Amino acid sequence: MKKQIQEKIDFEIRGLNEIDTFPMLDNIHFPLIGQVVLVTSVNREKIPNVAPKSWISIFARKPAIVGFGCNVNHDTSKNILSTGEFVINIPGAELAKKIWRASESKGQDSKEIEKVGLTPIKSVKITTPRIAECKAHLECSLDWTKKYGDEIIIFGKVLLASIDKKAVEGTLEERYKYLKLMAYLDEGVYGVIKTAQKIDQDNPTSL
Ligand SMILES: Cc1cc2nc3c(=O)[nH]c(=O)nc-3n(C[C@H](O)[C@H](O)[C@H](O)COP(=O)(O)O)c2cc1C
Repeated sequence: MKKQIQEKIDFEIRGLNEIDTFPMLDNIHFPLIGQVVLVTSVNREKIPNVAPKSWISIFARKPAIVGFGCNVNHDTSKNILSTGEFVINIPGAELAKKIWRASESKGQDSKEIEKVGLTPIKSVKITTPRIAECKAHLECSLDWTKKYGDEIIIFGKVLLASIDKKAVEGTLEERYKYLKLMAYLDEGVYGVIKTAQKIDQDNPTSL
């Protein structure tokens, strides 16, 4: 059978102006996706903050390192730089509305987490609270940062991981059905993982 190669459209990323818009290429969102998480942090006065982030990934196994990109003017990065700790909370898609509310809530407010409709619970290793409604959490200590213009990449060492009991019991399918993990795809558009399936590598057309 003859291989079909799709026509490619090239977007040259030339200078800072264009890089400013990345991952938007003209009106197209480049299809490299990031999982939606809620990052909690506290300032020096221990006032908690919550904000969604999606430029996030695991970067190393030993030690366990996670990292995410954040605007330098956001409370999240300011808090983490001053206290050296944060929590990555993993929400399910049913929290979409509250995640949006968390992105809009600005300023220091000791009840910010409650006001967006979420519940802070104590962490095990650090002062920053976890979010009860989230299904998994990584308690982290700040390890390293790298600044690019108005953005800062924050790397954290994972001190403790917690996962809902329901998310570790049952079959793989049942676990992912419970987790309902979300990815940010486009302006206001999310992908939701509702099922987990083994891909038949010899028959990819079965997808
Ligand atoms: C789904 C979603 C994903 C987001 N991802 C990021 C991100 O990866 N990095 C970032 O700097 N801001 C991101 N934002 C925007 C911040 O959440 C938003 O600007 C927020 O007000 C920052 O809050 P803070 O000042 O409390 O940190 C995202 C917003 C949404 C709704």
